[in-house]
Amino acid sequence: MAKTHVTTTINGEPVEFLCDASQTMLDVLRDQLGLTGSKEGCGSGDCGACSVTLDDRLVCSCLILAPEADGHHIQTIEGMAQGDQLHPLQKKFVELAALQCGICTPGFLVASKALLDRNPDPTETEVRYWLAGNLCRCTGYDKIIRAVMEVAADMREAAR
Ligand code: FES
Ligand code: FES
Repeated sequence: MAKTHVTTTINGEPVEFLCDASQTMLDVLRDQLGLTGSKEGCGSGDCGACSVTLDDRLVCSCLILAPEADGHHIQTIEGMAQGDQLHPLQKKFVELAALQCGICTPGFLVASKALLDRNPDPTETEVRYWLAGNLCRCTGYDKIIRAVMEVAADMREAAR
């Protein structure tokens, strides 16, 4: 079957690839482009482990067909740190032990950053609702929520 040629940017870098029309963005990221930070927890849009942003919109990459990325901008967990400088959310997750096995962690980080990019001063309820699509079987969520709230406060303070 003829392959589809896709032109996109991933984490700010121009990227072109060939894919089958039925391939998911998650499969292309992981299996063709070597970006294995996005995880496949369910493959059906229920766990959030595959979260990326598509033109700044938070999406499950397991629900996006790779050809849909043509002409769009994708951000994955690999683009979150700047060189060896972790994003404040990544630092805080480590500091507060907001991760255990880490399968869900890339999705939580991408989703949390997408929230703070839109809303720098979320209430705890807003954080919990925003992250409701991300499942974690290990941490009990409280440390994750606390990490996001603390980073939001730190970033507001730094922006003063
Ligand atoms: S792997 Fe995409 S939502 Fe679970
Ligand atoms: S840290 Fe294991 S599923 Fe979240």
